[in-house]
Amino acid sequence: MTEVTDIAKDVSKSKERTVVVPPCPSSVATAYLVLRGVVVAVVGAAMKDIDVSTLQPLYAKESRPTAKFGINLGKKSGDCVIELTESREGIDAILDAIQEAANSLLTQNLPIISCELKKKDLVQKYGEEILDAQHKKLPEDSPLIVSCIQDFVLAIPPSVPFLNTNEISKIVLEKNEPGSSSVVAGKRKAEITIKFVVTEKYDETEQSFVSPSLQVLSNFEPFKKISSLNERVIRCPEGRKLAAKLAQLKDSTSAATPAKVNMNNETPAENTDEAMVVNVEEVKGKIDYKKLVKEFGSNHIDEDIINQLHEMTVGKNRVPFLHRFLRRRIFFSHRDLGALLGAVQSGIPMYLYTGRGPSSESMHLGHLIPFLFTKWLQDAFDAPVVIQMTDDEKFIFKGNYDDQKGDNLEHFRQLTVENARDIIACGFNPQKTFIFSDLDYVGKMYPNIVRIWKAVTTNVVSSIFGFDGSSNIGKIAFPAVQAAPSFASSFPTVLNADRNSSHVCLIPCAIDQDPYFRMTRDVAHKLVPKTHRLGGKPALIHSKFFPPLQGAAGKMSSSETNSAIFLTDTAEEIESKIKKHAFSGGQETKEKQQELGADLDVDVSFQWLRFFLEDDDELNYIAKSYGSGKGEYWSTGAVKKRLVEVLQTLVKEHQDRRALVTDQVVYEWMKERCIL
Ligand code: TRP
Repeated sequence: MTEVTDIAKDVSKSKERTVVVPPCPSSVATAYLVLRGVVVAVVGAAMKDIDVSTLQPLYAKESRPTAKFGINLGKKSGDCVIELTESREGIDAILDAIQEAANSLLTQNLPIISCELKKKDLVQKYGEEILDAQHKKLPEDSPLIVSCIQDFVLAIPPSVPFLNTNEISKIVLEKNEPGSSSVVAGKRKAEITIKFVVTEKYDETEQSFVSPSLQVLSNFEPFKKISSLNERVIRCPEGRKLAAKLAQLKDSTSAATPAKVNMNNETPAENTDEAMVVNVEEVKGKIDYKKLVKEFGSNHIDEDIINQLHEMTVGKNRVPFLHRFLRRRIFFSHRDLGALLGAVQSGIPMYLYTGRGPSSESMHLGHLIPFLFTKWLQDAFDAPVVIQMTDDEKFIFKGNYDDQKGDNLEHFRQLTVENARDIIACGFNPQKTFIFSDLDYVGKMYPNIVRIWKAVTTNVVSSIFGFDGSSNIGKIAFPAVQAAPSFASSFPTVLNADRNSSHVCLIPCAIDQDPYFRMTRDVAHKLVPKTHRLGGKPALIHSKFFPPLQGAAGKMSSSETNSAIFLTDTAEEIESKIKKHAFSGGQETKEKQQELGADLDVDVSFQWLRFFLEDDDELNYIAKSYGSGKGEYWSTGAVKKRLVEVLQTLVKEHQDRRALVTDQVVYEWMKERCIL
C-alpha cells in the first residue's frame, strides 16, 4: 500500500512548480465522482461514449467548495436513453433529477475505493477513455489515482476523495445563471455541464469540518463489474422518473404552446449540420416546415383555403391573381384563416395587423416579405392595416446603458422612423394604413395590455419564450404589448372600435412570431364580447423564411452584410453579392451539371427567384432548364444573371419610392386618425 502522505507530497511538490491552483479539496473530488457517475446513470449513457472535461477549479477563485465540469454525451445528439431537451422546463427537470440522484447516493454510505496505477497500466486495463486531456499529456509511468464507487463510477478524481460518500452532506447544482449548469441538446453535440457546491460535514464534537479520511490502494482490483458501465441503460430511479417527465412535457408542449422547437431526432437534413431552431429570438438550421406546422399546431394552407381566398379576392375583381407568395406557398401555414374568411363573408369587418422590430437602419429583402404580402391583402380585401413598430421590444432585448452616455432608447425610436419609410415605400394605401411606434401609442392600448397581463402567468410567458429569473422584467411584460393590437378595441380612434366591436383580425407574419400569438389566442376570449365570431382570437397567416445568400437554411440576418441584399444596396453591390455569395445547387463540373442538373431546393438564386419573379411560366421554364442542366438556363451563371436583373429592378423601384417619403410624409402615416 502506498503511503497516502507520499502522494500528497508528490502532488504538492508538483503544485509548487506550476503554482496557480491549490489542490482540490477532498469534498469537491468526492462530489465530482458522485456527480459524474450520476449524470451518466440518470441519462442512461455508456462510459465508452462519453467525454468528460477537466474539472474547473472554481474553489480556488470563489473560496468555497465549488467546481464545474462538462460531460459530452456523444456526437450524435446524446447517444443515451434520455432524450435531452433545451426547453426551460426540460433543462430544469434534467438538472433536478441529477441533483436528487446525487443526494440520495450520499445517504447510502457507499465506499469509495481508490487505487494507484501507472498511467500505462491504467490504460491497458480500462482503455484510453478513462484519461482526460490533461492526463493524456503525462508520461506513461506517471502514477494516477483511479477511484470507483460501486459499479457506477470509475474515474480519475482531481485529488484523493474521501473514503465514503456520506462524508459530505449535500450537493447543490447551481443553475439559471450565466456560466452555471446547463444542457445542450444539439444534433451534433449533446452536453451536460454541471456547476456544483458541496456542503461539507461539520463535526460537532471536533468543532470543525470533517477532515479527509483517505485510503489509496496500489494493487487492488475493484473494478470487475465495469462492463455494466458500458451499456446504454438508465441506472437509477431518478433517471426513470425523468424519462417519464420529459415524455409528458413533450406531449403537452406539442399539444399546446411549444417554446423552442429543436428537431433533434429527425434524420439530419441535407446540406446542414445544424439542428433546426425556430423561436422569436433565433432561427437557425435547415427548416423543416412540415414538422414546424405539426409542432406548433397550426395548419397547412390547403387547396380549399386557396380556393376560398381566390373567390373572395380575384373573384371580386379586386386583384388580378393570387399573390405569388400564396401560389408558391411561401405563406404556407395559418390559424383560423377559414373561420376568418367565413366571418368576412358574412359581413363582419376585418383589419390586418403586422409589425416590425426596428433593430437596424437598413432593412433587407427578407424584411419586405410580410409587408409586400400585407399590402396585397389590403388591396385584395380593401381592409385597414395597422403596423406596430416595436421600438420598446428592441430596446428591452438589445438596448444598452452606459454610465457616461446613458441609454439608447432614443436610437430605437429613430430607427422606427427610418424603417417606416421603407414600409411606406411598399405601397400601402395611405388612407387605410396606420403605422405606430409603441413608445408613442402604447397609452391607447394600455387597458388591453393590462387585461392581458392579468390573464397570463409568468410561468406561461417564461415557458413560451424561454425567459428565466435573470430576464429583465420588460421581457416578461412585452409579449402583452405585441398581443394588444390583435384586438380592435386597442384602436378606438383608428378603427373606431370599442369593447363591443366585432372586428376580426388577420395577422400576416413569419412563422417565428407565432409564439406571441399563441399566447394571445389563449387569453383572447377575455378581451372581447361573448358573441365575437372567433372568440376574440386573431387569425394568422405564416410565411416561410427568406433564405440567406450563403445557403437555404435559417433566415437572413442584418448583422451579416454579405448574407443579405439591403434595400440601400446599389445595382453593382447586388450583382457582386449574388455572383460571389449566392450558394449554388449546381454540380461541380460543366459535364456533371449538363448531365445531372442543379439541386433547386438548395440553390439560393433559384429560391430567391421563387420569392421575387412574378411570372410562373418563366419560373417553371428556369426550373426545368436549370434542374436538368439543359437549355438556356443550364448553368448557375445564367440563373444568377436573371436574378440580378429582377432584384436590381425591384430594389431600384423601392429606392425611388422611398426617396419620396419625407419626414412630413412619415408624420402623416403615423398620426393617430381614423383609417376606415
Ligand atoms: N416582434 C416583431 C419583430 O421583432 C415585430 C412585430 C410586432 C410583429 N407585432 C407584430 C411582427 C405582428 C408580425 C406581426 O420583428
